[in-house]
Amino acid sequence: MRVIKGKDYKDMSRKAANIISAEIITKPDCVLGLATGSSPIGIYENLVHWYEQDDLDFSQVRSVNLDEYKGLPKDNDQSYDYFMHQYLFNKVNIKPENINIPNGMEEDAQKECARYNQVLEEIGGVDLQLLGIGHNGHIGFNEPGEAFEKETHCVDLTESTINANKRFFEKEEDVPRQAYTMGIKSIMKAKKILLIISGKEKAGIVKEAFFGPVTPKVPASILQLHNDVILVADADALSEV
Ligand code: GLP
Repeated sequence: MRVIKGKDYKDMSRKAANIISAEIITKPDCVLGLATGSSPIGIYENLVHWYEQDDLDFSQVRSVNLDEYKGLPKDNDQSYDYFMHQYLFNKVNIKPENINIPNGMEEDAQKECARYNQVLEEIGGVDLQLLGIGHNGHIGFNEPGEAFEKETHCVDLTESTINANKRFFEKEEDVPRQAYTMGIKSIMKAKKILLIISGKEKAGIVKEAFFGPVTPKVPASILQLHNDVILVADADALSEV
């Protein structure tokens, strides 16, 4: 794992956006694995800015998102579909048919997971997977457990995740209790993984996940076994290592 230290959130975001930008420039039809949460917002702002300056072209880029809340319609402003359109897709020239996100409104979990696995299969491999990390070490919505879940699955979100994500909702009861997420095997199959982490409150999990044992109790720890991971983190997130 290569570690790139940014001074702060802004610096981390620009450095990470440069890595994605290099991927799009060198492989215009690349497959990007995309993530949500507060961490990647600064990256998307940089990418939009460079697109507006004519430095980036998304016309052949294909994307697969990591996860989506189960039960939230696309037009709910807390759905990940809404987030991605708000911060990136509506602002660049990516083609709608090249965008893939799990469908949170599909009630039949088995059907949706099978459909998304098929999407991942057909797209032929992710070139660059962007990842954030949850406070409990989750990636996508792969929560801590007894085993690594391999493929797309429907998860019951942990109390810690519901707690961390309630800041985006009006009240805690509004936070969905389930989500669809790409599995660990699908994430690990990406050619390159770009992990971004910011803030003091993530310093503990950075140490545990990347300097401790590989265990499904800390899902992000599996990334230690991938041979092309770049961690771009700010000084606060790296303060305990
Ligand atoms: C959510 C997402 C993750 C994200 C995590 C951290 O639970 N499913 O993909 O990495 O939150 O979010 P944040 O960047 O807001 O701390």
